[in-house]
Amino acid sequence: MAQEKNGTGLSDERLRVARDAPGFMPLDEAHALYAAAAACLSADDAVGVGVEIGTYCGKSTVFLGAAAQEHDALVVTVDHHRGSEEHQPGWEYHDAGLVDPHSGLLDTAARLRRTLFDADLEQTVLALVAPSTAAARVWGREVDFVFIDGGHSLEAAQNDYDGWARWVRRGGALLIHDVFPDPADGGRPPYEIYRRALESGRFTESAAHGSLRVLTRSG
Ligand SMILES: C[S@@+](CC[C@H](N)C(=O)[O-])C[C@H]1O[C@@H](n2cnc3c(N)ncnc32)[C@H](O)[C@@H]1O
Repeated sequence: MAQEKNGTGLSDERLRVARDAPGFMPLDEAHALYAAAAACLSADDAVGVGVEIGTYCGKSTVFLGAAAQEHDALVVTVDHHRGSEEHQPGWEYHDAGLVDPHSGLLDTAARLRRTLFDADLEQTVLALVAPSTAAARVWGREVDFVFIDGGHSLEAAQNDYDGWARWVRRGGALLIHDVFPDPADGGRPPYEIYRRALESGRFTESAAHGSLRVLTRSG
């Protein structure tokens, strides 16, 4: 794949793949995500692994994977691939084209594989198909960043924070998507865990881009 850069950090081809993938990350926020991940992975004390919670079809994953590949690192992306509440039939973000005829359930795993193949990231991104709480039970190592973009119910968001924020190494980043301080702009759970992280005294806010927050682990 041609790796020609376009000033955004991604090759033109990878940018096209990310644009084509169904998903929920505006591209300006995705570029900020790429920059934050790259900064963590290029640090002198980087451990070479980042985690994403909430893959869907891999749109954000392309940006994280591109940053990882440049630093010879890996990204583990966790999703049960059955969709969140808002992706289910009858809900606003349901995509009938992503229903598996065998199970009759939403299944975004095949579309993710297509994204990773097209983006030439199969050696860099490890897809962990599991509920995030189950994946957290077997996790056991520090990482350079955790990006939380999973279920947006209060329980799901709190579980993601409880299960994963602890693994961010000192100096690494907790990245949270869909943080809306004004409830008129969107749901509260990602904002609630953002507040929890700040109030824990272990994270300080280092950047904000749209609804993306970059929190650096300080303690
Ligand atoms: C907002 S989408 C992720 C969007 C993606 N980051 C993008 O850039 O398009 C949320 C994802 O979280 C997943 N999810 C929701 N609850 C989950 C849970 N408890 N465990 C694992 N994945 C979950 C859903 O299946 C869905 O794919």
